[in-house]
Formats: sequence, structure tokens, C-alpha cells
Amino acid sequence: MSDHPLRLGVNIDHIATLRNARGGTHPDPVAGAWAAIQAGADGITAHLREDRRHIRDDDLERLQTLCESENIPLNMEMAATEEMRDIALALKPRAVCIVPERREERTTEGGLDVAGGHNQIAPIVRALSENGSRVSLFIEAVEAQITAAVHCGAAVVEFHTGAYAHALDNGDVAKAASILEALKTGAKSADSQGLEVHFGHGLTFDNVGDVAAIPEAVELNIGHFVIGEAVFMGLEAAIKEMRQHMDAARQTQG
Ligand code: PXP
Repeated sequence: MSDHPLRLGVNIDHIATLRNARGGTHPDPVAGAWAAIQAGADGITAHLREDRRHIRDDDLERLQTLCESENIPLNMEMAATEEMRDIALALKPRAVCIVPERREERTTEGGLDVAGGHNQIAPIVRALSENGSRVSLFIEAVEAQITAAVHCGAAVVEFHTGAYAHALDNGDVAKAASILEALKTGAKSADSQGLEVHFGHGLTFDNVGDVAAIPEAVELNIGHFVIGEAVFMGLEAAIKEMRQHMDAARQTQG
């Protein structure tokens, strides 16, 4: 069994997506965050995108107030821009995850190019860290990116599990197995270089087990699937079932 307890961060962006579809106030992502905390979420994750397509600035402020009053970290996902840096500096969330962002994408596709973007990313990591936020970089499990994350001064890396989930969805078991190996190797390397290891994107009840079983994993950030599943079974039950899958994988790990 791993030495690390495994944390579950619940990404509530898509409650805001549903709200914004009608332009009103319902369902409120902050009410969703509260329900997620009651169901046992260890953290709340929210992505303030440049186009504000789901989470908006006032949501983030209300989420920060809720999380601080519940003593739960808010993990703000953001692009490495000056606008987002300034918002995060003012908000002071306990955690920030820097992600790549392109306007036309449907979701965060691929990891951040930390190796190629050092000069842009490193000063933002430094400013946010000095301001009291624990900074994570959302990367592919590739050695050059892990080393670059260390050089940028990040405390955490979150490995992108989207390609793994996608390969399994497509029934490409061999590809999924090879991506899983890369995730395991990356986790070992990052951990040995002093980085805390998180994983996220595309995780479901069916695919979370092998990722949760990676011994270096400290946190999983899961959104779309649990919010989607909540339509059928309720948010509390969806989060509790996800947690059961994570815990079961952790207990059976060699
Ligand atoms: N982690 C990061 C860094 C992300 O950008 C996202 C998607 O916003 C997630 C985790 C959650 O992914 P999903 O919604 O597919 O569970």
C-alpha cells in the first residue's frame, strides 16, 4: 500500500456549464461545491477560462469563501496569462494549477509545454508561490516536462490522463497500457525529484482504478464524469462511489 493517502478534488466547472446554458443562476456551482464537500471531497477545483464559458469571476470568489470556511483547498485552474496571474494573486487560493488553454478547444487538450514556455511560466509560478498558493503544472508524463517543472519551481505536477481515458474508450488496450506505463514512470521520476504527484482528466468509475493505484499519486482531480453521473444518481452518491473505487484500488495495490 502507498504511504500517501489519496485525495479527491472535485471539479465543479460543469455545474456552471449547465447554469450558463440558460443564463440564470441555477444550478449554482457553489451549491455544488458545498454538496461535494459534504460528500467527502478533499478539495474543490474550478477553471476560470479566458472566455468565462463556465466558471465566472464571482463564482471563484464565492468558492474561495466557501472553501476557506470549510477549511478545504480551492484549486484554481488557469492559463499562464497576466490577467489570470493577477486574479489568482488577489484571490489567494490555496492551490493553483496552470493549464494550457486554447479558445477553440472543448476542454483542456494535452499538457502544458513547460519546457518550451519556461520564461513565461516560471515568473508566474514564483509570484503565486510567494503569495502563498501551492502551484501545480498540468503536464504530460514526459521526462523533459517533469524536469522543466522542477526548474520552474513548481511544488506539484498533475499528469494529464486524457489520452489514457481516450485509448480505453476506443478499446485500444495496448495503447492504454503503454500510456499507463508512462504515467507510472513519470510519477516515480517526479516524486524522486521532490514534486507532489496529481492526476486528472477523463477519469471515470471504470478507469480510475489503475491510476489510483499508482503509489506516488497524492490527488486525483475529477469533474465531467461525476457531474454527468450526478444527473442519474445524485452528486453525493457519485462522489462516494468514485471514492470507493479509489480506495479499493489503493488497498489492493502491491
Ligand atoms: N485536471 C485538470 C488540470 C483539468 O484541466 C481538468 C478539466 O478541466 C480536470 C482535471 C478534470 O477533468 P474531467 O472533467 O475530464 O474529469
